[in-house]
Amino acid sequence: MAGDDLVARSLAHVWHPCTQLKDHEGEDAAIPLIPVARAEGVWIEDTDGRRYIDAVSSWWTNIFGHRHPHIVERLKTQLDTLDHVMLAGFTHAPAVELAERLARITPGKLSRCMYADNGSSAVEVALKMSHHYWRNQGQPGKTRYIALSGSYHGETMGALAVSGSGMYRDAYAPLLMKPLMVRSPDCALMHDGHGRALGESWEDYSRRAFAQMEEMLARHGHETAAVIVEPLVQCAGGMRMYHPIYLKLLREACDRHGVHFIADEIAVGFGRTGRLFACEWAGVAPDMICLSKGLTGGTLPLAATLTTEAIYQAFHGDYREGRAFLHSHSYTGNPLACTAALATLDILEQRDWMAHNRGVGHLMYTAVQELMDHPHVAEVRQQGMILAIDLAQDGRGLKPFAAEERRGLHVYRHGLKAARSQTGVGAILRPLGNTVYFMPPYVIEPEEIGHLARLAIAGIHSATAD
Ligand SMILES: Cc1ncc(COP(=O)(O)O)c(C=O)c1O
Repeated sequence: MAGDDLVARSLAHVWHPCTQLKDHEGEDAAIPLIPVARAEGVWIEDTDGRRYIDAVSSWWTNIFGHRHPHIVERLKTQLDTLDHVMLAGFTHAPAVELAERLARITPGKLSRCMYADNGSSAVEVALKMSHHYWRNQGQPGKTRYIALSGSYHGETMGALAVSGSGMYRDAYAPLLMKPLMVRSPDCALMHDGHGRALGESWEDYSRRAFAQMEEMLARHGHETAAVIVEPLVQCAGGMRMYHPIYLKLLREACDRHGVHFIADEIAVGFGRTGRLFACEWAGVAPDMICLSKGLTGGTLPLAATLTTEAIYQAFHGDYREGRAFLHSHSYTGNPLACTAALATLDILEQRDWMAHNRGVGHLMYTAVQELMDHPHVAEVRQQGMILAIDLAQDGRGLKPFAAEERRGLHVYRHGLKAARSQTGVGAILRPLGNTVYFMPPYVIEPEEIGHLARLAIAGIHSATAD
């Protein structure tokens, strides 16, 4: 009863994100609203004691499981000394130590760290910083950005503007600045004559796809401040994956054309792809990197945009020159959030998580082997701790399911319902349209992967039965 009451009160007052709230209404709601009581490790428990594997790491934030004892302990200690102080005119050990440690572990020499409190804001920082840099360098005409189709960089106006997914931006399109869009190097087999051809390797296709980026940079480099990409995996766009060669070519081309390279590693940073940062697969360093989500191990909101000393120096000067970067958020560098991030970095250093993640990722892939020949599975792909399964009318992906059929949602409901069954084990398999995916905390056990795989397979059979 307590749960039902919570749901009713939530529906009366809480505007839940990214949801048609009508879907939550009624006895047989299209998307049941789950009242959560507690969480531990990979498990979320509802108010009736039903348990669900958090297969999507609570929107990809929770990399080491919920309430990790080390993060909890450090947070409690921090709370005894300093809760919050503004970072303008003040500084504190957690913000300083975190900036130092991030500078050490990020690719290249990203020595300067600007904090924000969510991923979208980290992207706003990078976009503004890039244009402002060029302005301070006497090139105020560099006002444009190049982005990839199918990309997602957040939902504030700037971040949304450079996002290529129609679903998120269509309603707001008239309000947004106009980016230069380049076709994504997404290596899924495409059948519209433009994408990867049958038999073409990921590397060959990613190289081929780069030609359009090269052309765009040649034509618009003079008015472009930066190119922004999600390295290796376009997550919200449907876990679309591409070959690292694209990032290598992009780094070279950005240098040639005098354009910044912004790596949005908000979803893929901190080991998700099997390397600490996805850019490492290409051996490249961006001019700016945006971090959030896994940064605090999924405990508190925090984001960071790191850049090079050279970019920072363009903002440095006498007050009267008016060169300063004017960007702030009230909770910039919050001590508690920085402490959670420091604890997360401690855990990351405790063992070789990258080898672990590559191994566990492979386990996830083999656990769903039988789906490879499923008549309604177009592709199963995996990169580190990300596994994605595309559903389609046919096994070759020539005919997608109509979005209105909500096949992916059917799998999600199947995972939730399982918590009410005899096994009592449910899973949170919140899909991206008709793409079902696993992106669990790194600490998931083989047995739990087995549960997930069984639920996903049964859910897919049921979702595609008619
Ligand atoms: C690559 C990427 N960038 C930016 C964001 C936006 O982050 P936030 O939701 O914290 O604003 C997301 C969120 O999913 C993301 O995946």
